Amino acid sequence: MVDHSPAASEPIEEPVLLSPAAGAELATPAGPSVAERPAGMSDPVAGERGMYMAASATLGPMDFLRRSANETVFPFTAPDGIYFFAARSGIYHLMRALGRDEVVTVLMPDYHSGAEVWAVKAAGASVRYYHIRRDLTPDLDEVRDLCRSGCRVLYLIHYFGWSQPVREMRELCRELGMILIEDCALSLLSEHDGQPLGTFGDYAVFCLYKTLPVPNGGMLIQNATPFVDGRLLELKADDRLSTLARISELIFLRMRSRSDICGRTMLSAKTAIGRLLTSFGITRLPVGDITPDFQSEGYEIKNLTVGMSPISKSLLKRFDYKAIYRRRRQNYLQLQQRLENQFPLFALPEGVCPLFFPLMVSDKHTAANAFRERGIEATEFWNFGHPDARTETAPDAQFLRDHLLELPIHQDVTDAQVDYLADQVLKLRLLL
Ligand SMILES: Cc1ncc(COP(=O)(O)O)c(C=O)c1O
Repeated sequence: MVDHSPAASEPIEEPVLLSPAAGAELATPAGPSVAERPAGMSDPVAGERGMYMAASATLGPMDFLRRSANETVFPFTAPDGIYFFAARSGIYHLMRALGRDEVVTVLMPDYHSGAEVWAVKAAGASVRYYHIRRDLTPDLDEVRDLCRSGCRVLYLIHYFGWSQPVREMRELCRELGMILIEDCALSLLSEHDGQPLGTFGDYAVFCLYKTLPVPNGGMLIQNATPFVDGRLLELKADDRLSTLARISELIFLRMRSRSDICGRTMLSAKTAIGRLLTSFGITRLPVGDITPDFQSEGYEIKNLTVGMSPISKSLLKRFDYKAIYRRRRQNYLQLQQRLENQFPLFALPEGVCPLFFPLMVSDKHTAANAFRERGIEATEFWNFGHPDARTETAPDAQFLRDHLLELPIHQDVTDAQVDYLADQVLKLRLLL
């Protein structure tokens, strides 16, 4: 992101101010499922004119009816892409393969979700961290020094659609004989210099359910020696109940974003059924599970050998990827135009497919609740990282964790909703 970070790579000094802190945390980047909304997070009520905007893309009738597209895009064109239930499985199996004969040291950014670090460590690798600055860029001199201190793998994360200085990092790896892993979990459909992210590194991982309305799905791409053989993994079938539950949630969320009362009723019914199943001890395999203590079920190693669901596979053939890319950019630019000169914003270079609109606020939790009270599912992005990455040695990462809020601009957000969202951002600022 060297040349296209917020406000032309200036540090963000003045976050938007909202009322003082209220503590609390927890959220998944794709937005928490309604049934899993953590304590302290208010339930979104309908905003003015019954407005409701889901955190991430939802499912509408066309997604089922559209015929399979002839033309598709990377990473789906990659001949040997391996599909998993979630991206962390791809990371885990790759690291297991790379570490077959030795303990591998992986250099990872200190600004991360925690799930990727967990997967690397679960595979037996050891982790060292490089700093990410407030403008989301690494200090390449620091990276170079750390690489020289015995690391075998350099791991980069493209943050929510924006590219890291991937050419420079690849050059460094070539020079030092290291392996480059591109984490594109948040950056499906994005490009850098006209080339898809995920084609620069020796290996790349994608999380599909963050950008697309699929119930689950992650991918491993092997541009270098394919150490992981998908056929030998014998991936288990997904848990049909959790897939069905997530599909229905994605449909009801779309209904809600078009007709609040109707969608809300269906979501309440779904939540009630979910609670009933839980009370009978029927567990489901969660997707997008990020918890600060890394103890929950989604992190069990046995879940890392679960495959993607057949319904995700079928939906992936039907999406219009070019339209999704265009719509996300259009929504981003429309919101950016409304907020220009009011806030420090991230410029949108050619090729970036934004996962969300990152807004810097002084108090994320209060801000997220204020948006939710207006029918907008704003997400507190990455409040925590892996417990090993100590916050006191990562001041800029901590700054981002404290202030970066995720606003929805995904493919089913309409022009009117973007305008409404802009109105609310501006109004909230006036409330200070
Ligand atoms: C940067 C990054 N990498 C990897 C993952 C793991 O993705 P998944 O939930 O598909 O396992 C996440 C999840 O949030 C992430 O944010």
